[in-house]
Amino acid sequence: MNREDFTILNNGKLIYFDNGATTLKPDCVRDTINDYYNIYTSNIHRGDYSSSLKVSELYDNCREEVRDYINAKYCCEIIFTSGATESLNDIVFGFFRHNLKKGDEVLITESEHASNVLPWFILQKEMGIVVKYISLNENYEVTIDNLQKAITNKTKVVSLAHVTNVIGDVRDIKNIAKICHEKDIFVVVDAAQSAAHEKIDVVDMDIDFLAFSAHKMYGPTGVGVLYGKFNLLKKMIPCRYGGGMNAIFNNDGYVELKDLPDRLEAGTPNIEGVLGLCECIKYIKKIGLEKINKYEHDLRKYLIDRLSELDFITVYNKNNNGIIVSFNINGVFSQDTAIYLDKYNICVRAGNHCAKMVKNVFNVANTVRVSLSFYNTKEEVDLLINVLKNSKNIWEEIL
Ligand code: ALA
Repeated sequence: MNREDFTILNNGKLIYFDNGATTLKPDCVRDTINDYYNIYTSNIHRGDYSSSLKVSELYDNCREEVRDYINAKYCCEIIFTSGATESLNDIVFGFFRHNLKKGDEVLITESEHASNVLPWFILQKEMGIVVKYISLNENYEVTIDNLQKAITNKTKVVSLAHVTNVIGDVRDIKNIAKICHEKDIFVVVDAAQSAAHEKIDVVDMDIDFLAFSAHKMYGPTGVGVLYGKFNLLKKMIPCRYGGGMNAIFNNDGYVELKDLPDRLEAGTPNIEGVLGLCECIKYIKKIGLEKINKYEHDLRKYLIDRLSELDFITVYNKNNNGIIVSFNINGVFSQDTAIYLDKYNICVRAGNHCAKMVKNVFNVANTVRVSLSFYNTKEEVDLLINVLKNSKNIWEEIL
């Protein structure tokens, strides 16, 4: 679907199945960024000349575009960051470091990405909060039952990926948040793997904090979003100080910060990145998220069915509901499989995928991961299956 929008797909024989790591970029995103460089390069909110005024206006409109995409109430609830990792770090160190106390419990799972684990580990060490794990069911999913079992009267935060990056399960955030909020528990959602594939409505799902990156949604690297409910974001202590976020400061140390969102965006932002993010959101909206979602889920079913024909392959997440498929050729190290597939221009990711606790879930440390996008096709899946079928001589081919 829409393959003609991607020069990179029309330049050669690329079969790109590593969309969980980063997606390809459509020409419209490239052109938007080029226009910034070629036509109106300038800083924002600091110049009184026309190109600066123009780019300031474009930048400010991006916030509205993102707000609309996730259905946030206010534009000032959207903070531009360098990506989901920075957003999650800011949530933990800018908000929870100042709003949790020793003994408070934070619930995550063993299938979370490092950026939704390591910041909590730091608070555990620093302040004595306790990181606990919601048990996963036989399909490696979070169930409401297991969530309820894990909650105690000390639970203060539940921090989960909307879609996990190795198992690919889509979590029922709306119901999870409902249960949490009945018990005054904060809900943090890592939407890095879902923002380009699943509908997110922060009001309907009642999410307190949300994080995602542009580069996994057809946008540029180095830019992302931190969303927080206004009343929570207002209490966030900036993790960075500098220009653009202060209203006044004086030689006696007096500082007054600006209102949201500026107070949380110190320094010159990634202007071209934000413009690119805005363009990729417009691009997704133009195709239609529902259409994308249906196409990708149908393709995943086809991929699972075809992989099931191969008795020398173990698929670890056959029963999950996302568009990520993790597997191994039996007896072959995942990275060797990835190197072999690369000989046929097939890009997959191999390893532990920055989710190092998943080994406790799958009982295997490393997997080959196919993560789909709307530009992947059944023909590409067939090619993958053929190459896998011919993998008996894998060692001769890669050594
Ligand atoms: N977090 C990215 C992935 O899952 C890099 O591949």
